[in-house]
Amino acid sequence: MNLPPPTVQWLDDSGTAFRAPGADASRPGVLDIIDQTRLPQSLHRLHLSDQKEIHAAISRLCVRGAPAIGCAAALGLAACAQRLTTTDQAEFRRQLEHTAAFLNSSRPTAVNLSWALQRCLNCLTADHVPALKQQLLDEALAILAEDISLCEAIGKHGLQLLQPGQGVLTHCNAGALATGGCGTALAPLYAAHQAGYRLKVFSNETRPLLQGSRLTAWELSRAGIEVTTICDSMAAQVMREGLVSLVLVGADRVAANGDTANKISTYQLAISANYHRIPFYVAMPYSTIDRSLHSGQEIPIEQRSPDEISHCQGAKVYNPAFDVTPYELISGYITERGICRKP
Ligand code: MRU
Repeated sequence: MNLPPPTVQWLDDSGTAFRAPGADASRPGVLDIIDQTRLPQSLHRLHLSDQKEIHAAISRLCVRGAPAIGCAAALGLAACAQRLTTTDQAEFRRQLEHTAAFLNSSRPTAVNLSWALQRCLNCLTADHVPALKQQLLDEALAILAEDISLCEAIGKHGLQLLQPGQGVLTHCNAGALATGGCGTALAPLYAAHQAGYRLKVFSNETRPLLQGSRLTAWELSRAGIEVTTICDSMAAQVMREGLVSLVLVGADRVAANGDTANKISTYQLAISANYHRIPFYVAMPYSTIDRSLHSGQEIPIEQRSPDEISHCQGAKVYNPAFDVTPYELISGYITERGICRKP
């Protein structure tokens, strides 16, 4: 299957790419990502090792999608750590925590960002700086390797929901470009494609940054999966016409009660799906569940620049990047552990 080239990886000074533990932290390395702001026009990679550049790459959406943000931040932290010159263990930890806090401020909604950074900080048990650097890189690469295999598992579980020839609607991009592996919401579609199902995928354009029409359309058509781009406002009509019988989306953060933050417009998609009695499933890794939050009302919602949607000077702009779909509207959750259906 023709998946996009790796969205996130570690690249050392000999040009060797790593997606699982095995890289030598004493060799200079960089966080290597696809610059998604340039897709689909050009497939351009960025090599980053400076905390300001990594922060900017995440906040500008060069790397985006909750799991990919987590993987990139972890590898980015490892790259920044390599460049710390102090040999004092306490000072090394202090500077590292400072960098982690800075990277964590790059985007507020996807919990995978803070989850991955915290996991990297928690892994540090060694008692000298070179060993701490190695532990950090190993942990970041373990996060990436786990993400690759959990995407496969989500695909395998989600396949149960699909039928050959089925019409499926998705929103934003929760595919290979949004993860270390083959995606979350798109993983079952890849599994179905491999099993010979001829799905008809409808991809919402996803205003305002067009993750659907630029990224989902690009990666699915590249893989040979039939994909039709629609404007976000056309979804209800597509449902009424009977063109889709399942909605599959990803998630940036799921509260303990199941309320789910995902790309803006997911909420109205869920309302439309419920009205038309179409199953609405969320696919995400277990790490996207934030048990510290009781409900979706507590999920921080990123507000983005007015420039992304403003065409008229003088008009005010409101630009939340995500919304929260109440658990009542969600038929079930697909994780690497299986499908959790609403009773
Ligand atoms: O602003 P983005 O492009 O990072 O938003 C991405 C989404 O909303 C995805 O659906 C979500 O992160 C899940 S990606 C597997």
